[in-house]
Amino acid sequence: MRLINYLNIRHLLLHYRRHRLQKQFGKGLHVGLNSSLCNTAVGYNVYINHDVSIKDCLIGDHSYINSGCRLTNVTIKKFTSVGSNVVMGLGKHPTNMASTHPAFYSNNKGFPTFADKMYFDEIGDTIVIGNDVWIGYGAIIMSGVSIGDGSIVAAGAIVTKNVIPYSIVGGVPARLLKMRFDEETIEKMLKISWWDYSLEDIAMNFACFHDVKKFIRAFSPNATHTGSKC
Ligand SMILES: CC(C)(COP(=O)(O)OP(=O)(O)OC[C@H]1O[C@@H](n2cnc3c(N)ncnc32)[C@H](O)[C@@H]1OP(=O)(O)O)[C@@H](O)C(=O)NCCC(=O)NCCS
Repeated sequence: MRLINYLNIRHLLLHYRRHRLQKQFGKGLHVGLNSSLCNTAVGYNVYINHDVSIKDCLIGDHSYINSGCRLTNVTIKKFTSVGSNVVMGLGKHPTNMASTHPAFYSNNKGFPTFADKMYFDEIGDTIVIGNDVWIGYGAIIMSGVSIGDGSIVAAGAIVTKNVIPYSIVGGVPARLLKMRFDEETIEKMLKISWWDYSLEDIAMNFACFHDVKKFIRAFSPNATHTGSKC
């Protein structure tokens, strides 16, 4: 009986927290149970699934973060899909001091240390994830890495270096597996940068996204953007 009461109270608290976050960030945000956002700004129509922890991030319009992710110090642009259990920004210990233990360089831990102040940046540089990026299940993205527009990070990859636009990278450490399109197509896609179009244009032409050749014809700079093209 006691256990049941405890579970109900916990459930209520989780719902309350979700409701509070949704109120704070506006109607376009969906936040799943047991997720937290700290010092984070989100765009329009952002979806955050359950058990996600987000700290010091910017999340652009229409991007979504699936369950179990942990994101620290990340800028994500628009229409990006982040699979479950992705970690971005692991935090660092020094590799060239006499010891890697925080006792010698940190004074902000939950345990006593010898240091009088912080002697080392544990967070590292901001991670930048472009527009229309797909990050597969369980990938790890190291601090300071930039991932170009339209690229794909394979499931389980550990990304330690910048990723060029419209490439597919995978493995540990992540290496180029292949390019999504030929050079000319990539150049055109980047010039179009469809993610900056109005929602009306995108919605009206959603079928063009199913075929990259038709898409480029419809969205090329000299095409007129009134009405559906596909
Ligand atoms: C990266 C991915 C999109 C590639 O798909 P694809 O374009 O169909 O590519 P292929 O399956 O033809 O594989 C191409 C090459 O990449 C390799 N590869 C595929 N997935 C890989 C991975 N996760 N890690 C390392 N290498 C991988 C393949 O072995 C193949 O290598 P080869 O050319 O030496 O034979 C896909 O494998 C993947 O990881 N998807 C993520 C799925 C996921 O996480 N879903 C849940 C979140 S929504």
